[in-house]
Amino acid sequence: MALYSEKVMDHFRNPRNIGSIENPSGVGEVGNAVCGDIMKIYLKIENDIIEDIKFETFGCGSAIASSSMATELIKGKALSEALELTNKAVAEALDGLPAYKMHCSVLAEEAIRAAIKDYYDRNGIDYDRAMFPEPSDVHEHEREQEESSCCADCRGK
Ligand code: FES
Repeated sequence: MALYSEKVMDHFRNPRNIGSIENPSGVGEVGNAVCGDIMKIYLKIENDIIEDIKFETFGCGSAIASSSMATELIKGKALSEALELTNKAVAEALDGLPAYKMHCSVLAEEAIRAAIKDYYDRNGIDYDRAMFPEPSDVHEHEREQEESSCCADCRGK
């Protein structure tokens, strides 16, 4: 059996979304101290949607394939969905990575989170609160929904 799936080879040879973005909404750069590889993600965000995403990866083939696949998976998605992307999901979308190469996909998950955190920091949004809303936030949200689902008639009474 081949060591790398066809998808890994495809994304390694023809990486999608490679490059950088001018005036990005957020940038995230992470590295792996053991292998020394570095991944940088650029985001263009509008109304909490990832309108554009690019990457620069100085690393192994699996890291390049992971960056390419990860950017494809979250392009056009809401930030909340992008934050849920795990390295396992990236590896699965690539039809698997050898066990000793799984850490390469971790870089993609971390770089995306770092870029979103940078966007939140630039806009004064509390990243932890966005990631882990407190119960009071959830109730507030539910209340808003209840109120907005009321019809004009009912509100007038
Ligand atoms: Fe370093 Fe793959 S060997 S990211």
